[in-house]
Amino acid sequence: MADRKIKILIVDDIPEARERLQKLLAFEPDFEVVGMASGGREGIRLAIEQQPDIVLMDINMPDMDGITAASELRRSVPNVGVIMMSVQGEAEYVRRAMQAGASDFLTKPPPTEELYATVRRVAEDVRSRPVLVSSGDKKEKKKLEVQEDRTTHVIAVYSPQGGAGKTTIATNVAAALMREGVRVLLVDCDLQFGDVCIFLNLRPQATIVDLIRSVDDLDMDLVNGVLVTHDSGLRVLAAPLRPEDADYVPTAKVPLLIEKLRGMFDYIVLDMNSRIDEMALALFDMASRILLVLNPTLPALKNGLATMALLDSLEYPEEKTQLVLNRVTPELERSKVAIEVAALEQKLRRKAFAIIPMDEKKVLYAVNRGISVVAKDKTQSPARELIAMADKLIESLAPKQETPPSSQQLQTPTKPPASRLGRLFGGG
Ligand SMILES: Nc1ncnc2c1ncn2[C@@H]1O[C@H](COP(=O)(O)OP(=O)(O)O)[C@@H](O)[C@H]1O
Ligand SMILES: [Mg+2]
Repeated sequence: MADRKIKILIVDDIPEARERLQKLLAFEPDFEVVGMASGGREGIRLAIEQQPDIVLMDINMPDMDGITAASELRRSVPNVGVIMMSVQGEAEYVRRAMQAGASDFLTKPPPTEELYATVRRVAEDVRSRPVLVSSGDKKEKKKLEVQEDRTTHVIAVYSPQGGAGKTTIATNVAAALMREGVRVLLVDCDLQFGDVCIFLNLRPQATIVDLIRSVDDLDMDLVNGVLVTHDSGLRVLAAPLRPEDADYVPTAKVPLLIEKLRGMFDYIVLDMNSRIDEMALALFDMASRILLVLNPTLPALKNGLATMALLDSLEYPEEKTQLVLNRVTPELERSKVAIEVAALEQKLRRKAFAIIPMDEKKVLYAVNRGISVVAKDKTQSPARELIAMADKLIESLAPKQETPPSSQQLQTPTKPPASRLGRLFGGG
């Protein structure tokens, strides 16, 4: 987040004052003035529209004074930092500004360095605090749009290694699962260093911190306010914005949260961290598939074996845990630098579900531009293999085709039919 520009909105009724601030702020490469308003009302409208980090708010304005506007902003755009400005710097003004929810106070015209430092400090503060979602003044709660008969497949993307490619695989598989009428949620479960939003160039206004807090009392508006929507339609539940905010997420509640959101989606993809703890185990339990991502290296093999042993001890069905080999480089295998795929498969005693080639350039290009690998050059590696993996997942998770029953079976059913189709036709 640190390299993102600080978005600033200027609210002042005097054109010269607005322009002076705009000019001063334009000198700093990490600032971006996203709008200017000449009154409180227009300021609020622009803040809702532009979602700035900072509002520089004059106090004395004819239509709606800055203090009223600041307290209004606190409710309608809770994640913004308001810096009040006034020619009068008396204690009473400062006190009222702070009561209205302002984060800081500057006397007008502010000295340049003080202006810069205050904007940066408040922006830092705003980004570090757990994001609040305004519930507005609504009394009525909209129930979650859960579809009872939907089969939701949870796909956990896990690796005992850091940097194995979990986030790369999770974001791309989620993107590749998207298609007409299919609802996919990608959850960033790396609570300290989640980077799904960076990978997909999303700027979350709210995160898992805001949902977990209300996990026992979720409503549709809150969920919609927290989930971020990617251009592709993929919904994303962002990780906390700062490592220390992970403390706001009681890990025991994460599986419960996923369970609650379950009926809203066809697929829920979990980008996990490397820790195996109670949360990870509960998420593994919920998953239809665990994609175990490994690189062709010796430490990966050692930790992969230990993970497989652990997962096997949980007695999951065989097809549940699938091996995904990532950063595979045939040339390195041939020259015996990397471990061969066949050797890995033999040691781990299973065939790889997917083999994703190493392509530093394509993957880095996508990551640094915030686009998925599968959004570009679908026919080329590694997009091709990532898409093929998503297709294979869909196929392997689809309900198995029943052989049509004979007419005799239809007349004399012996057992209640166990399939979904059977239930639809009135059986157990
Ligand atoms: N198949 C691949 N080819 C080349 N680079 C890759 C590949 N998969 C992942 N990477 C790179 O490895 C780095 C770590 O990947 P990431 O998905 O963040 O791992 P993790 O989530 O497991 O820590 C990223 O910078 C990404 O660009
Ligand atoms: Mg990651």
